Order: sequence, then structure tokens, then C-alpha cells
Amino acid sequence: MYKIPAKTLFTGQNLIFRPECRSTNTYLMELGDVSEGTVVITADQTSGRGQRGNAWSSEKGKNITASILFKPGFLLAKNQFWLTMVASLAVRDTLFEFDLSAKIKWPNDIMVDEKKICGILIENQLTGSSISKSVVGIGLNVNQEKFNLEKVTSVYQQIGREASLQEILDLVLEKLEARYLQLRQNKNDQLKEEYLKSLYWLNELHTFSNQQGMLIGIIQGVDELGRLVIDCEKERKIFDLKEIVFVK
Ligand code: BTN
Repeated sequence: MYKIPAKTLFTGQNLIFRPECRSTNTYLMELGDVSEGTVVITADQTSGRGQRGNAWSSEKGKNITASILFKPGFLLAKNQFWLTMVASLAVRDTLFEFDLSAKIKWPNDIMVDEKKICGILIENQLTGSSISKSVVGIGLNVNQEKFNLEKVTSVYQQIGREASLQEILDLVLEKLEARYLQLRQNKNDQLKEEYLKSLYWLNELHTFSNQQGMLIGIIQGVDELGRLVIDCEKERKIFDLKEIVFVK
């Protein structure tokens, strides 16, 4: 069970806790007309969904698996990347409260110590050309001690002790609301500047792969559609989601 956060205006004020749930994103998307800021959170997500059609697994009772509903009718579908910035920065801000310096691996994997600590899945519903409903799904590894994959970590592994799931949920919701309000108040430049400051591999020479093979280049940032901009040896290249893999 979770308590309603004390410090938000609307985010989490309608808080739905399910002891078990297939996917909080699916559950919230299918919930019908609920208020902006509604949160669905579960202790046991049995069919969690990740980006690119992957599954998201999380040990029962150990981590945050939650989805938050926004109604950003002011945002055009082509500008949906701003929600990615909002959500990634909110998780980064939360981890900062635990003295963890997180990086955002484009588009929205949150990394600490070169390992993934949080995944974000944002699913939007459109009305005409604007976003009427946005479900922001957050899978944040908190107290899980062991993972099957090598490049994954948790708050527990990073700070060496258990953290309170309630405290982390409160922080995530506060930070998310603050970042969302920044967007709603057109403080886009500020959001983008902070997103870029935290971008993993920014201005560093690295190897990537795409359908054509390997390429070496330097991430310069993201364009107005949120695509990744990489300067390769001879030319500047722009990549959409699913078009590029980070190698080393
Ligand atoms: C990723 O692939 O990195 C995104 C993972 C997103 C997982 C979260 S957990 C809560 C919400 N419900 C889901 O089914 N997925 C998201």
C-alpha cells in the first residue's frame, strides 16, 4: 500500500494500488476517464512492457513499477519528445536526492555507474494532432539486490542500503509534476538544456551500430523532433528511435 503524496498539486492525488497487475501502463490506459495525475502502482507486475516490444521484469515488492497519467492537450503529437525529457529529468532529479549522479541514455534509459537503473515507457493517445492522454510508465530498480543481466543496477546496489519505496514514489511524483509544469509553462529551453547536460555520451567519441553496420561518432544532442544527432567522420547523421544501438 502507498499513501497519497503530501507535496503535489495533482500528481498521485488519485492513487490506485494493485497488489498484482499485468502492466500498469495497460491498466491505466484502459481505465477510462480519470483525472490528470492519476497513478497506478503495483507490487507485482507480471507482464511488464518495455521499449521496442521488450518485456520488463521486476522482482515482486522490491521496485517501483508505476504509471502516471497526463493530459497534455497543449502538446502536438510531433512534439511528444518533450514528455520524454520531462520523465527522464524527473527520475534523474529523484536519484540526485540520494547523491546518485544519473545520466540519460537517449532517449530515456536512466543510467548510474554505466548501468541501467530505470526504464521509461511513454504511451500517448491522440485527439486530432494533439496528445490528449499520455501514460508515463516508470520501472525504477530500488531494492532489488540481484539481476540476471550484467548492465543493470538498483538504488540498493548503488547506496548500499534499502530505500523506502514510499519515499522514492513521493519524490518521483513531486519531480515529475515539477518538470511537467515547466513544460506546461513553456519553459522548454530550460528543460532541453538540463536534458542535454545529463545526456549519456554527449560530446564523447563512441561506437554505434545501425542497419548499415558500425559507425563511430560524437553525440551532439537531439533535434527538434527528439532525434539523436551524431557527428560522424564525414557527416552529421540523425537517428530516429529504433535506428541506432549504442555499442561502446
Ligand atoms: C524500457 O524498456 O526501458 C522501459 C521499461 C518501462 C517499464 C515500466 S514499469 C511500469 C510501466 N508498466 C509497464 O508495463 N511498463 C512500464
